[in-house]
Amino acid sequence: MNKDIDFANTVVIQDDEFHDEAARPFADHRIDRLLIPERTIRKRTRVLAEQICRDYSHTELLHAVILLKGAFVFAADLGREICRCGGPELQYDFIKPITYGKGIKAGGETHRAARIEYALEDLNSDHVLVIEDIVDQAFTLSAVRKYLQEEKQVASLKFCVLLEKTLEHPAPEVQKLRDGLTLDYVGFQIPDRWVAGFGIDAGEDFRHLPDIVTVKEEYYRK
Ligand code: IMP
Ligand code: MG
Repeated sequence: MNKDIDFANTVVIQDDEFHDEAARPFADHRIDRLLIPERTIRKRTRVLAEQICRDYSHTELLHAVILLKGAFVFAADLGREICRCGGPELQYDFIKPITYGKGIKAGGETHRAARIEYALEDLNSDHVLVIEDIVDQAFTLSAVRKYLQEEKQVASLKFCVLLEKTLEHPAPEVQKLRDGLTLDYVGFQIPDRWVAGFGIDAGEDFRHLPDIVTVKEEYYRK
């Protein structure tokens, strides 16, 4: 590891943060490099869970809404960490917004419709925590927030995301969306690269990887 990480605050990951961990066998021609090792994700997840436990210390039941597919690994770990630190009882629901399908983003995007494929059943708690893998141009979470507030009338809504991309050249429309989105819990800030692993895919590949990697985007751009 290149430096000591302060896990108490959002961790900023540089492109070559873990370049000296090349011992891992990332020989796959579709993978560029290791971005965040599993143990680093685990430590940061524990800190996020502790924050959530503190913030919801007066809440008996918290409804976790997990965004499929990418958040399933993170949400499973986060929920168990919330239990270990004595947090509120959790109930789970899953919704499936589709924003990029099997592709990845192009340069200079200004709009993408995020269609919600599986909707929510009834909510048993006033408190909803959305658990998401990654925020890129904010199309997905903006659509999910609109759905939960307007169609489900959720009063207390927070967002927990594992990764937040630092966008390099966002269109003004995208910057506005990002500025309008408050993220309550963020695991890591990462460079503007397409990533995969730990539940997250590149064209459906690599969800099973324990670590998060960057991929060679030329293989996935349509
Ligand atoms: P946004 O709507 O542009 O913020 O993108 C967020 C959604 O797109 C997430 O739910 C992810 O599923 C997907 N996504 C965005 N960036 C990546 C990435 O680098 N790798 C894999 N999926 C991504
Ligand atoms: Mg997604």
